[in-house]
Amino acid sequence: MTDFYSLTLIAIIFYVAFKFLVKKRNLINCLPNKVVLITGASSGIGEQLAHVFYTAGCRLILCARRKDELERVRKELLQLYSTSVTHPPVVLTMDLTDMESIKKQAQQALDIHGHIDILINNGGISFFGEVTKTQFAADMNVMMTNYFGTVELTKTILPSMRKRKSGKIVCISSVLGKLSVPYRSPYCASKHALEAFCNALRAEVYDDNVKVTIISPGYVATKVAYNSVTSSGEKFNKEDPFVEKGVEASEMAKDILRAVLNDEKDVMICELYIRLAYWCKIFFPRLFYLILIKRARDFAHEK
Ligand SMILES: NC(=O)c1ccc[n+]([C@@H]2O[C@H](COP(=O)([O-])OP(=O)(O)OC[C@H]3O[C@@H](n4cnc5c(N)ncnc54)[C@H](OP(=O)(O)O)[C@@H]3O)[C@@H](O)[C@H]2O)c1
Repeated sequence: MTDFYSLTLIAIIFYVAFKFLVKKRNLINCLPNKVVLITGASSGIGEQLAHVFYTAGCRLILCARRKDELERVRKELLQLYSTSVTHPPVVLTMDLTDMESIKKQAQQALDIHGHIDILINNGGISFFGEVTKTQFAADMNVMMTNYFGTVELTKTILPSMRKRKSGKIVCISSVLGKLSVPYRSPYCASKHALEAFCNALRAEVYDDNVKVTIISPGYVATKVAYNSVTSSGEKFNKEDPFVEKGVEASEMAKDILRAVLNDEKDVMICELYIRLAYWCKIFFPRLFYLILIKRARDFAHEK
């Protein structure tokens, strides 16, 4: 028994030391010259990913729909880090719901530097609303952006990675890709689908040395709630207090870069209570679903 406790203690010490060393790792210039395509780079987590990968020495291709916002991010990168050895980022407009144009734009992205080393599928849209009131168009918008568009882009970039026997595909999912909660149905569905796709893909491309990383963030302080769609398909246009109190997007971006450097397969970057909820779902599913019922009732009363 004493041996068991000693071994557990040693394992915990090693784990804490490992986490400490990972956090301390210098991120500046840690990925020199790598070509990185980031979707959703015009705001929030994607914008901060642009900063950390830029200062990591990468050649960036910044994608989203709003060209003016992408240009703003590009300009800020050039102004802020003018002294480091970096490469001017390239802006490429892309609408993840426009299946016709994704292939063409992905090819354009590949042509810029001849290849892409790291594809970061970050672009996404959230949702607030009740299942029975949700218009099909709203379901489709969320699924197209978070799942189908992302899958189409990945499939277009993938053959060149397989041919070069090198590449990383990073998908920014959500803890709601592991836990489905009431009043967020298409968002949870799209992120669950994305994770399922990634887990299948990871095994398929293993022998081609292409790595697949799923990142599941908890709450991050961005405009994600404000930009969400509702049951009617209109914009939510309100902040969510949980999101507002979330971690800074810049801190999340650094954690994502660390996960990429470590070739993590599937990592949750979130508060302890969300992690506990995840374990509750696995070990005490009845309790977990009772909590969700209570949550759904509370929401219904609040409305
Ligand atoms: N913030 C959180 O609490 C949180 C938690 C877990 C996961 N996430 C995930 O993190 C990712 C980034 O979200 P965020 O928090 O940074 O929110 P955000 O500030 O609203 O950023 C979303 C990004 O996605 C882009 N986008 C939206 N629809 C698009 C479309 N149809 N085509 C191309 N790009 C599109 C937006 O750019 P344009 O509008 O210019 O196209 C924007 O750059 C999302 O996948 C989200 O699900 C966020």
